[in-house]
Amino acid sequence: MSDHETAQFRTSMLEENAGPGTNPTDNRTMGEIIATRFSRRGLLKGSLAVTAIAATVGQVALFTADKARAAGGSAFSFDEIEAGVDDKHHVAAGYDADVLLRWGDPLFADSPDFDPTRQSAEAQAKQFGYNNDYVGYIPIDGSAEHGLLVVNHEYTNPHLMFPGIVKVVEKDGKKKLDVAPLSKEQVDVEMAAHGGTIVEIRKQDGKWQVVRDGKLNRRITSMTEMELTGPAAGSDRLKTNADATGTKVFGTVNNCAGGVTPWGTYVMAEENIHGYFSGELPADHKEAANYKRLGIPEGAYEWAAHYDRFDLAKEPNEPNRFGWIVEVDVQDPASKPKKRTALGRFKHEGAESIVAKDGKVVFYLGDDERFDYVYKFVTAGTFNPNDRAANMNLLDEGTLHTAKFGEDGTVEWMPLVFGQGPLTAENGFTSQADVLIETRRAADLLGATKMDRPEDIQPNATNGKVYVMLTNNTKRKDDQVDAANPRAANAFGHIIEITEDGGDFAAAKGKWEVLLKCGDPSVAEVGSSFSTATTANGWFGMPDNCAVDSAGRLWVSTDGNNVKETGRTDGLWAVDTEGEARATSKLFFRVPVGAEMCGPLFAPDDQTAFVAVQHPGDGGEEWEGFGRPSYYEDLSTRWPDFKPDMPVRPSVIAITKQGGGKIAV
Ligand code: FEO
Ligand code: CA
Ligand code: CA
Repeated sequence: MSDHETAQFRTSMLEENAGPGTNPTDNRTMGEIIATRFSRRGLLKGSLAVTAIAATVGQVALFTADKARAAGGSAFSFDEIEAGVDDKHHVAAGYDADVLLRWGDPLFADSPDFDPTRQSAEAQAKQFGYNNDYVGYIPIDGSAEHGLLVVNHEYTNPHLMFPGIVKVVEKDGKKKLDVAPLSKEQVDVEMAAHGGTIVEIRKQDGKWQVVRDGKLNRRITSMTEMELTGPAAGSDRLKTNADATGTKVFGTVNNCAGGVTPWGTYVMAEENIHGYFSGELPADHKEAANYKRLGIPEGAYEWAAHYDRFDLAKEPNEPNRFGWIVEVDVQDPASKPKKRTALGRFKHEGAESIVAKDGKVVFYLGDDERFDYVYKFVTAGTFNPNDRAANMNLLDEGTLHTAKFGEDGTVEWMPLVFGQGPLTAENGFTSQADVLIETRRAADLLGATKMDRPEDIQPNATNGKVYVMLTNNTKRKDDQVDAANPRAANAFGHIIEITEDGGDFAAAKGKWEVLLKCGDPSVAEVGSSFSTATTANGWFGMPDNCAVDSAGRLWVSTDGNNVKETGRTDGLWAVDTEGEARATSKLFFRVPVGAEMCGPLFAPDDQTAFVAVQHPGDGGEEWEGFGRPSYYEDLSTRWPDFKPDMPVRPSVIAITKQGGGKIAV
């Protein structure tokens, strides 16, 4: 496809890895085994049982939910909202959901006000970026009401950003978008709209405010200079015309979820890096198989037309400099972010961490692609809570592991270490740098379990569990079903719960079970497993991000619900994990049509839930009531009518309880 055509493709594809998956191995995870714990026969029985319940789903569900609540069964007391579709956000009664930050909001004293008709890279680099995904909070002086909000800006939707570049065309009897090629100025705006924001925020009189020009405020973009560190730094495979050392790289892209480390740094996960690269590798290039495994180049962006480093023909090693976990020292706005190669290179979704019993720090990492893997990184050194500086390079040494989920309910964490097992010269690895640059191939050789798109993974300090969001995998066939991925054509995803051996997050082994198979429980074929106390509003599909509040309760946000498939927008659901209420879910917040729900994050005092609304309005034409297929038109002719709260700007929202207090107790 031409750059122009691929850009059009990007406007209509889901952000996520919509391709067929790039895992070529036949590591059938647990082979051709039809898992004993979730046999097809068992699935069928489960489905029939759900059908019987579903016949009276409304009444039965309400009665059971009330009863469970009265008996103290559910850990959540709020009255859930109705699932549905419209152009607004909704939160449970008794709560306020206030917009805190929107794309284009000024962050510095000299930031220009947002003006969509006069965008520039210079302005964007001083404003809040686009498509906010991960949200983290780093307290200032230990405060739950004054801190730094760190936010990833994952990707850009030019058809929603730039007035006047989109027209409707009829093709094959259907309305389609015709997106004009982007100018260099628009590409530069896109590059400046990526990355991350660090911004001081403060709660005053119960409401959060942005501290414009806070002394630690910072924008990180696709042009920010960074360092490559750890075992792969300096590898010949990371050297380019612009950087003969293999240690200096400009920018970060597609920062999806992330994390805040125990020592207060901000980590950003580089996810769908394949889209930014175009062009062809020179014939028989040594990186060909490496790039194919990651789907590089996809050419969804037009950056290569203006920047040689995104053109494989001109800079064949540049893609090896992306796909890492990036660590940012938020206390020094002049610091160079560090791409920590020890944590591997793949389509990183997030990097949530926890201190293990022996003081080592464990990072859980998802590789978001159909049939790809779950990882965890264990630092070699230990966390020193009394000496921040001593922790600042913990991420350069440690062991990356990938997960094999056994059908007997055990999980084995297999180390990815050069020289061990198949990770040797025989298989083309000459160093740990090679193992890390080609993490996926190393994990293939170890026989890791092919998962249904691993997204956010969250350790829970309160109960010692780990929750793995597996968002969906419609390509899984009947004969590819296994215990940990129990449904073929898995359109709605599932959640796995891991308990590490001995309650030790650094353990080499653990146990796992499926917490929840998602989807509409009233449709037997879906085979979901929500409790019967879950109402018609309470079920969800496509779990993506999640959070655990300080009471240890699980909250799940979704990506991909839509009018056609689920009749509901994405949102934030509270999920019981303990006791009789386990697998009961309730809808707390939902987003405008076309948006994806990211974040979520609880302030340390649990009195605020921060949520991130990505790409509101995208695909909104599917919903008649929206009444404004806005990006089919020239927005500039309509802009005078736009109001700041119209759902066309990605935003971070602060949810608080009216009158104060903890969320949802
Ligand atoms: Fe960017 Fe896998 O979500
Ligand atoms: Ca995600
Ligand atoms: Ca997502």
